[in-house]
Amino acid sequence: MNKIIKNSISIVGGAGHVGFPLGLAFGSKKYKINLVDVDQKNLNKIKLGIPPFYEIGAKKLLHKCLKKKILSFSNDLKTVKTSKFIIICIGTPVNKKLKPEVKNFVALFYKLLKIINKNQILIIRSSVYPGMIRKISKILKTKNNNIVYCPERIVQSKALIELPNLPQVVAGVNKNSVHIVSKLFKKICKKILLSTIQEAELIKLFSNANRYINFAIANQLFIMCEKYNVDFDRIRKLMKFGYERNLNLPKSGFTAGPCLLKDTMQLSSFYKGRFELGFASMKINQSMVDLVIEKVENIKNSKKKIIGILGVTFKAETDDIRDSLSIDLIKKLKKRKFKVIYSDVYYRDKNYYKTNSLIKKSDIIIIGAPHKKYMNLKFSKNKHVIDIWGRSKE
Ligand SMILES: NC(=O)c1ccc[n+]([C@@H]2O[C@H](COP(=O)([O-])OP(=O)(O)OC[C@H]3O[C@@H](n4cnc5c(N)ncnc54)[C@H](O)[C@@H]3O)[C@@H](O)[C@H]2O)c1
Repeated sequence: MNKIIKNSISIVGGAGHVGFPLGLAFGSKKYKINLVDVDQKNLNKIKLGIPPFYEIGAKKLLHKCLKKKILSFSNDLKTVKTSKFIIICIGTPVNKKLKPEVKNFVALFYKLLKIINKNQILIIRSSVYPGMIRKISKILKTKNNNIVYCPERIVQSKALIELPNLPQVVAGVNKNSVHIVSKLFKKICKKILLSTIQEAELIKLFSNANRYINFAIANQLFIMCEKYNVDFDRIRKLMKFGYERNLNLPKSGFTAGPCLLKDTMQLSSFYKGRFELGFASMKINQSMVDLVIEKVENIKNSKKKIIGILGVTFKAETDDIRDSLSIDLIKKLKKRKFKVIYSDVYYRDKNYYKTNSLIKKSDIIIIGAPHKKYMNLKFSKNKHVIDIWGRSKE
């Protein structure tokens, strides 16, 4: 049996949006961190002190961890065998039919079965389809009974700010490993919430579905306001003023990204396709793209004009374009033969325009992501500006 290093944590998916900041958070608490990932390019960036994506506070903390030499990097799963803790943070996507795509996720545990031993503790951090944790513990039963589920609930790009403040839900198949893992997470967060495995699985998915549905309420009301030519942003502000019961009404916008819809659809599969609110929310949130296209089409000679999209990431202050509705909009406009250019303060590719040159060149400007830098931009009167986000600060 391999010698287990007590204070060592392997993070599988360690170069990802969840795994990387989690590694830094534990790294700052004197653990030895082994970042395991199949993405060698991102591992190389981290090795050089470059965070692979925008994450507030990550660069500074990464440099500290590199200086202390507590980080190691590997694309070889076998390197987890000397770690006391193995944390799994790989993706749990849905497929084109919006059903959970679990093949790769499950395959990882069959690989781990050949590597791990009974003294190690396996922590699942990915958001999983309900029932998955029991399935994993059955796969690993002959080798290891220390399976603990600790779902991640951070908002992307703010992991290092939120991790210390968010309560950590912990659930597992045996009391001893739950106790040890609670102690581990107590090092990086203030409060531990114990639950059953099924409760923990549902807490995570319900949290994202709750947000997705909540955004859909705002978007539905926004669409209604557009129809009657009234200003949703102004109504929303007046609704909230001195009236606490309306404070939870979010702003309208392109509600998307790699988690909210995906987790709502995992729940829908779990509930055998009867999650009506989830489906209705998807329809409403995604229809914001059609609404913008309709607005473009209503502008005289719009096919001859240049359309500039300001912001292509899936939300404000991130460089992540995964499942971005702004990208979806660009594709749909191009398919309809509109002339489209784009820009983003966080994301660049070979077709990227600088903010000012995009504004200068475009006749129609669409706010695709409400980055702070776009909040106070002034546009000349000859530009058509389409803003579904309500660019007020509050
Ligand atoms: N992004 C978020 O803000 C967030 C928040 C809460 C929960 N989650 C959940 O966390 C999980 C991970 O999400 P993410 O956004 O970090 O995804 P990600 O794609 O950014 O990161 C996953 C990483 O896992 C790596 N990977 C995939 N298969 C692997 C394998 N077999 N072995 C080693 N590495 C492998 C990928 O290369 C990638 O770097 C998902 O279940 C997601 O739903 C994400």
